[in-house]
Amino acid sequence: MIADASQPKAVRMSGSPVLDEQESVEVFDEALFSTLDIVLLGALLLAAGWWLLRRNKQENLPAPTKSYSIQPTAYTALVPSENSFIKKLKTSGRSLVVFYGSQTGTGEEFAGRLAKEGIRYRMKGMVADPEECDMEELVNMKSIPNSLAVFCLATYGEGDPTDNAMEFVDWLKNGDADLNGLNYAVFGLGNKTYEHYNEVAIYVDHRLEQLGATRVFELGLGDDDANIEDDFITWKDKFWPAVCDFFGIEGAGEDVSIRQYKLTEHVDALPEKVYTGEIARLHSYKNQRSPYDAKNPYLAPVKVNRELHGPTSERSCMHIEFDIEGSTMRYEAGDHLAVYPVNNSELVNKIGEVCQVDLDTVITLTNTDEESTKKHPFPCPCSYRTALTHYLDITSNPRTHVLKELAEYCSDQADKDKLKLMASTTPEGKALYQQWITQENRNIVHILEDIPSLKPPLDHLCELLPRLQCRYYSISSSPKLHPTTIHITAVVVEYKTPTGRINRGVTTTWLKEKHPSDPPCLVPIFVRKSQFRLPTRPATPVIMVGPGTGLAPFRGFIQERDIARKEGKEVGDTILYFGCRRRHEDYLYKEELEEFEKNGTLKLHTAFSREQAQKEYVTHLLENNKEEIWSVIGEKNGHIYICGDARNMARDVHNILVKVVMERGKMTEMEATAFIKKMDTQKRYSSDVWS
Ligand SMILES: Cc1cc2nc3c(=O)[nH]c(=O)nc-3n(C[C@H](O)[C@H](O)[C@H](O)COP(=O)(O)OP(=O)(O)OC[C@H]3O[C@@H](n4cnc5c(N)ncnc54)[C@H](O)[C@@H]3O)c2cc1C
Ligand SMILES: NC(=O)c1ccc[n+]([C@@H]2O[C@H](COP(=O)([O-])OP(=O)(O)OC[C@H]3O[C@@H](n4cnc5c(N)ncnc54)[C@H](OP(=O)(O)O)[C@@H]3O)[C@@H](O)[C@H]2O)c1
Ligand SMILES: Cc1cc2nc3c(=O)[nH]c(=O)nc-3n(C[C@H](O)[C@H](O)[C@H](O)COP(=O)(O)O)c2cc1C
Repeated sequence: MIADASQPKAVRMSGSPVLDEQESVEVFDEALFSTLDIVLLGALLLAAGWWLLRRNKQENLPAPTKSYSIQPTAYTALVPSENSFIKKLKTSGRSLVVFYGSQTGTGEEFAGRLAKEGIRYRMKGMVADPEECDMEELVNMKSIPNSLAVFCLATYGEGDPTDNAMEFVDWLKNGDADLNGLNYAVFGLGNKTYEHYNEVAIYVDHRLEQLGATRVFELGLGDDDANIEDDFITWKDKFWPAVCDFFGIEGAGEDVSIRQYKLTEHVDALPEKVYTGEIARLHSYKNQRSPYDAKNPYLAPVKVNRELHGPTSERSCMHIEFDIEGSTMRYEAGDHLAVYPVNNSELVNKIGEVCQVDLDTVITLTNTDEESTKKHPFPCPCSYRTALTHYLDITSNPRTHVLKELAEYCSDQADKDKLKLMASTTPEGKALYQQWITQENRNIVHILEDIPSLKPPLDHLCELLPRLQCRYYSISSSPKLHPTTIHITAVVVEYKTPTGRINRGVTTTWLKEKHPSDPPCLVPIFVRKSQFRLPTRPATPVIMVGPGTGLAPFRGFIQERDIARKEGKEVGDTILYFGCRRRHEDYLYKEELEEFEKNGTLKLHTAFSREQAQKEYVTHLLENNKEEIWSVIGEKNGHIYICGDARNMARDVHNILVKVVMERGKMTEMEATAFIKKMDTQKRYSSDVWS
């Protein structure tokens, strides 16, 4: 039955004679023939049966226009599977499902908040990961009375869905499901500094309507560059009344906080059963097993960690080499390295002190919603110390719902009112949140310090804080030159906040202390494949624009082109635009770059922004080199790459390229923009940017 299992579900359920025939053949054959015989005979009969069936069908068909096809109506006959969200909704008496497309947890968190709030409006809700659901079942949502599907979807890369929403979006794009009767709303998570702002949510909102679904409330768009929390609560504030209106729900219930997880303290927990920072599998850091990925990172020894900035620089930039020998890990130049960080122990201890809890108490937090696929908020059982060190984000600005729940634990009424106000959607509340949390950059530790009457139970705080996320770094080596090490180039984050505190980046501060001279200096990592690739033919010329740490992936690219040249291959121009503040301070890999320039591998253009009264940026150099740029992208079919700051630099470079194409290619602005867009779709214009 192997061939049968791989057939589309709709075919298998149509009870086609082909299947029946095959089934009977297999039973008969089992007793008389070997497995190979069965397979061959089965295949033969299947083919013969199929041919006969097709011939009969063709003969019986009244008109050629009515050819045999499997229509989406077959979906309504879908048997609920393990991944049936419809079954889950029905058995638990729910009518609201909130799907999320999320990479770093914000979308998932927003989905959780919406699902939880549903109960106030008599819509019991459930959060769902599209990757773990049969999304074709959306056609069956109408079988649940007054039901609603909400989608909280983030956009990444070149307007791409998150990994967990990829299949769902592909299904929407390529299928033609009949979604009549599906009620929906979409909230998008994006960032305006990126070219493809919120494209996934915009597309899904439009496509669902196109397929016949009913939009219950207008698309909401959150901008992570401004204040995505504000965007979300503002949208949510209007969303619920619209939902009530649509379904005729009268009067909201009481706004009570409900705990999602119940606490168990383990008095005699066996140490071998307790998580100590593993991401998913218990003891995965002791018994390392490939393949390594987001759920199973590799504990890589740091082989090299050296400073790239000169002694007069106020900042620090690390060149780190991770040893991957014997790990079976593979990478390519242009890929990203993910690093799982660890929180600062002083901050962790501070939380323990304020909450007056022994951080070594071993606990389990268990979801009170038995239908939920997420049983625990992080791997349990573990100690509070492990949760605060490895699993929870204790340094970003807490969102409004956290403040709202924490307000209950203030013994001082004025403190309680302040937290409640910041969590509210009034203009006054929003302004206070913006100033006291966002601008003054307070994390949970700062809030506990500055509101002394706030003493939350630590288990509730652990339930409220978001998960600590891995950080990505553009790999700055080529496996052709460094097959057993992966290099990154990371600038250390450290800044003073308006309250006079020094905030330090979680990952970069932790990595700074990881020195091979002080073993064991192990770091959990995995490689994330990217689309940022050199052209397959080395003869194709390339222009790379990478100021600051934007240089990182180009170091790998240059190493690769250098090897190709030394192997005697024809290599096109390799042109780099690099910029930094001052040549003696933050000129990254100066010697290496100058050596590549000397040996003929590289054409180097440098801009030192702070060495003269007027700023000089890579963008200024590009404006002066229009002829060279046009020769590469307009005449020689070359590639252009941009890496680093998404906020200003990438957009400025894009605008200059449009100007170059207009001037040298003699095109209008519209034609030039279309030219660059085409380069983008041909993968000849690629960006690897972050903000
Ligand atoms: C695809 C990709 C590739 C990347 N490649 C690289 C790379 O090659 N090299 C590299 O160094 N980084 C790179 N980054 C950035 C990197 O992932 C981390 O974001 C960065 O190292 C900071 O991490 P952290 O944990 O040390 O800091 P965090 O603890 O995450 O703190 C950073 C946060 O602090 C805040 N912040 C930072 N500076 C200030 C300031 N001056 N004022 C106020 N708030 C501030 C911001 O909210 C910022 O998000 C990349 C990011 C992505 C998404
Ligand atoms: N999220 C994070 O925590 C995080 C961490 C690290 C880096 N980043 C981002 O990554 C980017 C690179 O960081 P970095 O520290 O390596 O770079 P950087 O040293 O801040 O900048 C490199 C060079 O680019 C110049 N520059 C500034 N604006 C520009 C523009 N619009 N066009 C061209 N050049 C410009 C800078 O000049 P001046 O400074 O003199 O203006 C400097 O000379 C930063 O922009 C930052 O936003 C974010
Ligand atoms: C590497 C990277 C690429 C991104 N690309 C886009 C993009 O193309 N368009 C957009 O609107 N937002 C983009 N964003 C912003 C995210 O969508 C936004 O931060 C969102 O809140 C993330 O949600 P999540 O935490 O649920 O993954 C990008 C963010 C990163 C870090």
